[in-house]
Amino acid sequence: MSSKKFYITTPIYYPSDKLHIGHSYTTVAADAMARFKKLSGHEVWFLTGTDEHGQKIQRQAEKAGKSPRQHVDEIVEWIKELWGELDIGYSDFIRTTEERHKTTVQKIFNRFYEQGDIYKSKYEGWYCTPCESFWLERQLEEGNCPDCGREVEMLAEESYFFRMSKYADKLRRHIDENPEFIQPPSRKNEMINNFLEPGLEDLCISRTTFDWGIRVPFDQEHVIYVWLDALSNYITALGYLTDDDQKFQKFWPADVHLMAKEIVRFHAIYWPIFLMALGLPLPKKVFGHGWLTLEEGKMSKSKGNVVDPRVLINRYGSDAIRYYLLREIPFGADGVFKLEALVKRINSDLANDLGNLVSRTLTMVERYFNGSIPEPAGDFAEMDKQLQELALQTPVKMEKAMDQLQISNALAELWELIRLCNRYIDHNAPWDLARQGENTRLGTVMYNLLEGIRFIGVLLQPYMPRMPGNIFKQIGLDDYHNLWGWDSLARWGQIPAGLLIKREEDLYPRLNLNKELDWGRGQEEEGTKQQVQETISMEEFKKVDIRTGLVKEVERIKDADKLLKLQVSLGEGETRQLVAGVAEHYTPDELKDKKVLVVTNLKPTRIKGVLSEGMLLAASDESGNLAVTTVDGNIKPGSRIS
Ligand code: ME8
Repeated sequence: MSSKKFYITTPIYYPSDKLHIGHSYTTVAADAMARFKKLSGHEVWFLTGTDEHGQKIQRQAEKAGKSPRQHVDEIVEWIKELWGELDIGYSDFIRTTEERHKTTVQKIFNRFYEQGDIYKSKYEGWYCTPCESFWLERQLEEGNCPDCGREVEMLAEESYFFRMSKYADKLRRHIDENPEFIQPPSRKNEMINNFLEPGLEDLCISRTTFDWGIRVPFDQEHVIYVWLDALSNYITALGYLTDDDQKFQKFWPADVHLMAKEIVRFHAIYWPIFLMALGLPLPKKVFGHGWLTLEEGKMSKSKGNVVDPRVLINRYGSDAIRYYLLREIPFGADGVFKLEALVKRINSDLANDLGNLVSRTLTMVERYFNGSIPEPAGDFAEMDKQLQELALQTPVKMEKAMDQLQISNALAELWELIRLCNRYIDHNAPWDLARQGENTRLGTVMYNLLEGIRFIGVLLQPYMPRMPGNIFKQIGLDDYHNLWGWDSLARWGQIPAGLLIKREEDLYPRLNLNKELDWGRGQEEEGTKQQVQETISMEEFKKVDIRTGLVKEVERIKDADKLLKLQVSLGEGETRQLVAGVAEHYTPDELKDKKVLVVTNLKPTRIKGVLSEGMLLAASDESGNLAVTTVDGNIKPGSRIS
């Protein structure tokens, strides 16, 4: 076996919400790659993790009424359970809130500063918080984020900037000279045409208007821009700039950074430039696969249980979900997730092609040879050679496809072998051989089928980690681990004759499509019901006393940038003092004289030491916009909302 190294990464996911089947897609693909490389004799490091800082997470946590730390801890726990259920065999899971990461990111920032790559200035421009990305006016699409289509917000704050322009030419040369660097090629053209050709702007790499992030070491008012923080995980996790950097020395540069297309920009432009500034070699490949969508459009957790990977795994098993994801969509292209397609794949590929092959073969070995694996003998027929040849070529073909990340093609190659085995049964008609008493030939046919199944089992392991163990057990190879490995595929005919097979139930029973589609509809309804359960009754609503109020006076609160103190008249001489978190969106003057809505029967509380006797109602959206609800017309202060 060679001692080649292979380092593969997934993006580190935002633990802002539970992940859906789209996120699992990248991780399953990376896991299959990692397992394939391990199988074929590489020393593999497979990194995944979570990207826990930034404004988006901070806001989500606020919305959930939790501290950012508590919020991310809960979701990270859920994500790790999901990866367990999906048999993701990562080598390391990095959280950007870990000390080992934070310290190194600060060292990296210092280094940039010391070598003059960073300067302080003011950022004024657009920002998309869900994507955590800065945009120029000309890059917006109808005023919205060109990546996610959501609203952007205007930022104006002091920031540190990284001199991207200093490295732009060098990056352009690297891209031109290394056609494999950005894959597939369409993504490479997009990077050149949309970002490098128009000229690279310097990048804002610190923020001051929130604090959930890694502090700039020499300027504590600033937190490091979440993408610089996040991208660094690929080297901080290996111990870069620490006393124990063995892993870094061994595995860097990465062989593949895997992700979907929307974040290729960060990996193919900013990340290589940061690495150049650190004097480090660039990753060998940045691969941007396509998006998994739903028929009705973009995937999101709010689409209900059908996109919840854990619900799907629970029903179909992790192997089947993995197989579907890897097989159904050519890796690189966009694809639509459909329950119907999943069920059809299970029925046709797993139950019919593979399951039948194994069960037919084992039934015949039981029936004709009392379950004892016969010795191959006699003259070999043309089709025997064909089967052997294809079996011996399949690992080579699959390796070639996998090296180009054509995962679905690799599986298609394997299914060629499975289908040939099935044809081999039909062609040789063992039942006729048995009837004619051709036992020698019958034994050879059975032996070849078992050996073919063994090849299939070995090659299936990276994609479906569970089932091959079952196959090996059924064909009597439970204790023959040497016959489960890559090297055992170099030669045909290695199963020892005389072993006893142990037939069990079918690998994959056929599913009833209609029943599964009903189940899917039920899951959708379940999702809707959960939303309904979150509604409240009229009686409950009536308990909330919301009244109109007139804002009389507004002042800022010392040491609380986000808060304003309001005196609001509720009519008939009643004035309430409210503390509202709207200071980043309204000046005191803008709020004065507005007719607003106030929840008046909340228990009074103190916010930053200031008494608040109710709540000012305001609407906010995901992009961080906030608008105080006001009332038009001639309604008296103190009027009740009903
Ligand atoms: O972008 N189809 O994290 P994220 C296919 N934290 N892949 C999908 C998908 C879909 N519908 N939805 C998500 C971030 N993905 C940053 C990354 S890396 C230094 C920081 C996958 O939680 C896909 O790989 O938003 C995509 O790139 C990634 O999830 C984004 O995950």
